[in-house]
Amino acid sequence: MRRMAAKVNHCCIPYIIASIRDYTNCHSMRFIIALLLLTSSYVSPLNNGLALTPPMGWLSWERFRCNTDCENDPENCISEHLFKTMADLLITDGYASVGYEYINIDDCWLEKKRSLNGHLVPDKLRFPSGMKSLANYVHSRGLKFGIYEDFGNYTCAGYPGIIGHQISDANQFAEWGVDYVKLDGCYAFPEDMDKGYSDFQTVLNNTGRPMVFSCSWPVYQIYAGIQPNFSKVMEHCNMWRNFDDVQDSWASVESIIDYYGDNQDHIAQFAGPGHWNDPDMLIIGNFGLSYDQAKTQFAIWSIMAAPLLMSVDLRTIRPEFKAILQNRKIISVDQDPLGIQGRRIYKHKGIEIWSKPITPTQDLHYSYAIAFVNRRTDGTPSDIAVTLKELGLVSTHGYRVQDLYENVDYGVLHSNTKIKVKVNPSGVVMLRAEVHNHALLHIS
Ligand SMILES: *[C@@H]1O[C@H](CO)[C@@H](O)[C@H](O)[C@H]1NC(C)=O
Ligand SMILES: *[C@@H]1O[C@H](CO)[C@@H](O)[C@H](O)[C@H]1NC(C)=O
Ligand SMILES: *[C@@H]1O[C@H](CO)[C@@H](O)[C@H](O)[C@H]1NC(C)=O
Repeated sequence: MRRMAAKVNHCCIPYIIASIRDYTNCHSMRFIIALLLLTSSYVSPLNNGLALTPPMGWLSWERFRCNTDCENDPENCISEHLFKTMADLLITDGYASVGYEYINIDDCWLEKKRSLNGHLVPDKLRFPSGMKSLANYVHSRGLKFGIYEDFGNYTCAGYPGIIGHQISDANQFAEWGVDYVKLDGCYAFPEDMDKGYSDFQTVLNNTGRPMVFSCSWPVYQIYAGIQPNFSKVMEHCNMWRNFDDVQDSWASVESIIDYYGDNQDHIAQFAGPGHWNDPDMLIIGNFGLSYDQAKTQFAIWSIMAAPLLMSVDLRTIRPEFKAILQNRKIISVDQDPLGIQGRRIYKHKGIEIWSKPITPTQDLHYSYAIAFVNRRTDGTPSDIAVTLKELGLVSTHGYRVQDLYENVDYGVLHSNTKIKVKVNPSGVVMLRAEVHNHALLHIS
């Protein structure tokens, strides 16, 4: 049997873990509640057989925006060429083999006017082959194809929205071979969304083609001061936005991390297989995040069971950022079959600990992914020391602990063992603690 690889340090705990105690006490209870939820039909989430783990893929918006100038910028404009290029790179550069499968168009793919018979028309210069052809291309690569529309009169960039054309637009998507529909909420009344979004889900269902339904319904209601009915949202959407669009900066990523941490008690419980909170795209590999910050975004998004939608130029991404996006150990935390959204369990003086229950389980104990995040800016790594028990990991069989970014295996640790990590400013240390399956021997 493997002994502890790391010398565990018993000196001072720089950050006292107190608020975690409650979490520890209700640990087994949470498991039982989760089992009850699985076996009861008290709310029935959307069941279109899709997004049983958070969708993974590539989405154009954050990086490529509404660049329609193919004359002067042919390599970066929103065009069929861009999406075909990214589809090819998902395959050739290894992204598809770790799970990224959707190629998703965002805004600005349409002509400004519908056809005379009311159909949506893709921009004739930028999508000359049309959407069915592009979808075929994406499918021929073994990938899936996503499209963008808007619930209201116009898309956010001013192209035709679906209002008044819901049925024919949904049928068009199905005919084209669309696998995923993101429905934005500009130029619409948020109070209409409970009915409008749920009706559109019925319309999508009636096409007979399974399409992931990505909703912006809650965030527009929150902006309008309406408390979203998340029970209803999860009955009709595979995923939904709760908060601001991500921008290319650490400040933006931090604001999203804070939003999901601060509001977790109202939203985390609605996530599960087939229905996810969506904190927006991964901006890893762009201009705004350092290497450490990029690792932090990936770790926290995975803890949150977030859809992993890269928005980055895959032609020029640097290898260290690509390696983050292709970290299989962290992807498997995000894609864990239990689909439980993790939570921030500790926050004090710029240090945060996030935790997500994952498989395998053993005697009513979960395994966990744990992320230690350093939000401090004081220029030197911070030490965090904590026992597994203080994190709520109380199985008497112990846990096999490994680092998911560094090649460090701590072996099997007792829940009283203190674990100590050094976390870079705006960085993260991420661990996986698998509940051990037989009684611990040889641990002092
Ligand atoms: C959308 O257009 C209709 C018809 O012109 C109009 O009545 C409605 O107010 C518009 N909605 C919004 C949110 O502007
Ligand atoms: C439509 O809804 C039914 C009932 O939830 C579901 O079984 C079916 O898979 C759905 N079909 C599509 C195409 O989404
Ligand atoms: C929220 O949605 C659920 C599920 O559709 C429904 O049963 C419930 O009545 C709604 N709650 C409110 C306050 O409208």
